[in-house]
Amino acid sequence: MKAAVINQYGQVRDVVRVADVPVPAVGPQDVLVEVRAAGVNPVDHLIVKGLMSSGTPTTDVVIGNELAGVVTEVGADVTRFAIGDEVFTRVDPRLGGAFAEYAAVDQSLVAAKPAALTFEEAASLPLVALTALQALTEQSDVRAGTRVLIHGGAGGVGSAAVQIAKQLGAEVVATASGDGVEVVRELGADQVIDYRVQKFDEAVSDVDVVLDTIGGETQERSFAVLRSGGTLVSILPIADAEAKKNQWNVEARSFFMRPHGEQLTHLAALVESGQLRPNVETVFPLDQACEALQKVERGGARGKTVIAVRA
Ligand SMILES: NC(=O)c1ccc[n+]([C@@H]2O[C@H](COP(=O)([O-])OP(=O)(O)OC[C@H]3O[C@@H](n4cnc5c(N)ncnc54)[C@H](OP(=O)(O)O)[C@@H]3O)[C@@H](O)[C@H]2O)c1
Repeated sequence: MKAAVINQYGQVRDVVRVADVPVPAVGPQDVLVEVRAAGVNPVDHLIVKGLMSSGTPTTDVVIGNELAGVVTEVGADVTRFAIGDEVFTRVDPRLGGAFAEYAAVDQSLVAAKPAALTFEEAASLPLVALTALQALTEQSDVRAGTRVLIHGGAGGVGSAAVQIAKQLGAEVVATASGDGVEVVRELGADQVIDYRVQKFDEAVSDVDVVLDTIGGETQERSFAVLRSGGTLVSILPIADAEAKKNQWNVEARSFFMRPHGEQLTHLAALVESGQLRPNVETVFPLDQACEALQKVERGGARGKTVIAVRA
């Protein structure tokens, strides 16, 4: 099958190739998915550069973390899916990546694709929407009346988080810049701060929860806008977390999202009820996987980049 692979770490343009590789083996709990589309995320170029792993690839490794497609084979113990089902999933990269004509995925990580979405739209959601859901409901406790500040509201994780926080009943303040401000307003944020025009820490205070998708100086300045006893959840590392918790009398947690089929089924229901909309910005063919990754690497996202694997 055709797939985007690496066999060494390095810059995207130097090491990402489209190659012929074997179709992955299907274990007893796995479904084999004929991939129609795969979402591209910043983590993909970090993986390509070797920043997410201590090992070194010894053979062609298929890259990509999320996909939508059609089940073409089921393992002996699979009970939840049948051949022909349309599904979407955040894959387990140990079983092979998503930028490929086929991917084997444990059934527990898979959910039925929302019927209203195209394969491209469905492929754009699993990683960012699961990250946002886990940040708001597992790493913090966002509910009706919670005041939340979401950084990077026009980005992949941020745009999912704005919608999920509104669905949970929160009051949502978000940061964005330029035309991203209007994008985030349309997603339902109650207040949008253009962080290039106004310092967010001068515009907002007494926040219950901050969702940090940016890190660095933005994260540093976010502690001051939390109320005493509030929670900062970051999807980037937090420097000196223990010292900051004591200094500001808050919780501070950094986490890495995990694949989760049941949570993805919940997110599919939010899509079906119109409470969660995907936002696809650009679609590239599989042959241009390298260009797709470079676009995401450049940043400034106003929606997701997706690779169309098969029409
Ligand atoms: N830990 C985890 O599980 C996990 C999961 C997913 C992603 N991540 C990481 O989280 C980060 C975000 O991922 P993503 O997929 O959302 O990226 P993305 O789609 O590229 O979005 C990033 C957004 O951040 C905005 N931005 C940049 N600088 C900003 C600032 N100073 N203040 C406010 N907004 C700013 C950008 O908007 P402008 O164009 O307006 O600047 C852009 O819309 C990446 O570093 C990724 O690797 C971690």
